[in-house]
Amino acid sequence: MNIIKWEEFLIPYEQAVDELTGKFRAYSREMRKKGLHCPIEYVEGRVKKVSSILEKAHRKGIHYGQVEERMEDIAGVRIICRFVEDIQRVAAVIRERNGVDMEIIEEKDYISDGKSSGYRSYHINIRYPMWTVNGVKSVAAEIQIRTMAMNFWATIEHSLKYKYNHNIPRELQKRLISAAEASYSLDVEMSAIREEIMEVQRVLNRKNDLVDEIIGGIGVLYTSGLNNIEEIHARFLMVYEQDDLEKLLEFKRQLEVLSDLYKATPYKSFSPADRSVR
Ligand code: GTP
Ligand code: MG
Repeated sequence: MNIIKWEEFLIPYEQAVDELTGKFRAYSREMRKKGLHCPIEYVEGRVKKVSSILEKAHRKGIHYGQVEERMEDIAGVRIICRFVEDIQRVAAVIRERNGVDMEIIEEKDYISDGKSSGYRSYHINIRYPMWTVNGVKSVAAEIQIRTMAMNFWATIEHSLKYKYNHNIPRELQKRLISAAEASYSLDVEMSAIREEIMEVQRVLNRKNDLVDEIIGGIGVLYTSGLNNIEEIHARFLMVYEQDDLEKLLEFKRQLEVLSDLYKATPYKSFSPADRSVR
């Protein structure tokens, strides 16, 4: 490979990161919209910097000409989960795509089998076909799946490794190992209260949806010309502030009744006695 052409060399990798992060984010969005538990908390992606590629090639004895074949993480996608249990769910989703829009090359389970540094994460190395102006190019990409706790640890340790040029002093290494143990305990604790956290999430999602539906309903009544809309909106704010899901639900039902009534008799303002929503 011509060294001067780094920028060009990286184009398909950038495209692959964009597409892959886009696909996982779309999956996450769809799951949430359908009210299903989404195993993905958020997705990150990056293309390795040229300086990091050079440093890694040097460290691993990879000749520049072999970078494309031998460096499997130039395109990197990171999927962050809340719970350890979610990691295998995400891995299953990726396995379903094997042979469809990507090809799994290797899986590395650094969770069952953590690294001596304390690193924990689940890796799936894939090949992803990219449509470039020169035809289809198979791009290597590394998908790292980890919990927020694992990610916190790995991010800190990565910065230290960078600071100490991969030779972290022994004392600090020990502290990192004990921090990794603490992060492991955090994951175990969070898993234990997972059901409770998920229930809170469900209630929160329901509340957000209800508020969206009510605001939408009020908007429709407003554009249809209902003249006591301010009063309805003020009433909604009062109910909202009570922070009671049942009351919000009741408000939505009343709004629907009012909406039906209004549709049946448009261009007319309601007398106080007609108003269901008060
Ligand atoms: P690298 O040379 O680090 O890429 O190792 P590898 O090519 O043998 O593959 P491996 O699956 O072990 O690591 C791939 C990637 O996982 C790395 O580029 C890091 O992003 C991450 N990783 C692996 N080990 C560690 C670790 O001890 N600490 C941190 N912070 N990240 C790690
Ligand atoms: Mg690697």
